[in-house]
Amino acid sequence: MTASATDADPILRLEHVSKTFGGVQAVRDVSLDIPQGIVFGIIGPNGAGKTTLFNCISGFCVPNAGGHIHYQGRNLVGRPVHAIARLGIARTFQNISLLSGQTVRQNLMIGLHLSLAYGPLAAMLPGRRVHAAEAQAHSDIDRLADILAIPRSALDGQVDALSLGMQKKVEVARAVIRRPRLLLLDEPAGGLNDRETEDLGRSLSELRRELDLSIVLIDHDMDLVMSLCHELCVLDFGQLIAQGPPADMQQDPKVVAVYLGTPDAA
Ligand SMILES: Nc1ncnc2c1ncn2[C@@H]1O[C@H](COP(=O)(O)OP(=O)(O)OP(=O)(O)O)[C@@H](O)[C@H]1O
Ligand SMILES: [Mg+2]
Repeated sequence: MTASATDADPILRLEHVSKTFGGVQAVRDVSLDIPQGIVFGIIGPNGAGKTTLFNCISGFCVPNAGGHIHYQGRNLVGRPVHAIARLGIARTFQNISLLSGQTVRQNLMIGLHLSLAYGPLAAMLPGRRVHAAEAQAHSDIDRLADILAIPRSALDGQVDALSLGMQKKVEVARAVIRRPRLLLLDEPAGGLNDRETEDLGRSLSELRRELDLSIVLIDHDMDLVMSLCHELCVLDFGQLIAQGPPADMQQDPKVVAVYLGTPDAA
């Protein structure tokens, strides 16, 4: 954070962000301030540009048709994915990307290994520092499991044996294991039943409180979005068409016309 930044400053500022794929304008001139410390929702129909916006923020693609993205005052455009992650931005993906055939704990250790407090040489010559870092990693994993209501008994079992709801929580845990400040969640409730979605919602609220996170949430499950988000924006054909408190968005005729009246938002 810059010396002059305050809690009132947005954690993320997008200015005129545009991204094209060939002839497809996936994101068009999006300007958006995302406040610190809240759950900010992004909704909109399939193909509206939501994931592309996450890709622009997290460095997976560059806003090739112009725009600036500032995180806590720092420019993100042009920085590689790992550098953006190191600044404190983490994300999950629309499709599950856990390592099959590995335990939950091994999946979480993979999220950590870049940030463990020792380098490759130290890892080959394990000493007190390495053991202390590993002990810390295991206690961080236990704590995260408790916050997200992942049973500790599941940690040393195969990740494939878990329900989809639990696998989604493991993905969230892996994203936050390096203690980011900003978490981008791309359809965490995709494929979950109502009970699993409610459970995920409770776990995400707890996570935000315990880790003092800012969260940006993309999801089509309107119950989850309405219950978790403090503020929402709506994308349609790459354009920002509305922004405001969830209750206002539910009443906005433009939003109802392009999204809330469609099966996507059922
Ligand atoms: N790598 C790519 N190459 C070409 N076109 C792409 C690529 N990624 C996205 N698009 C196009 O950009 C547009 C926005 O896609 P995006 O995946 O961002 O939408 P979305 O809002 O996340 O949709 P969904 O709700 O279905 O996940 C779509 O027209 C899509 O086909
Ligand atoms: Mg998407």
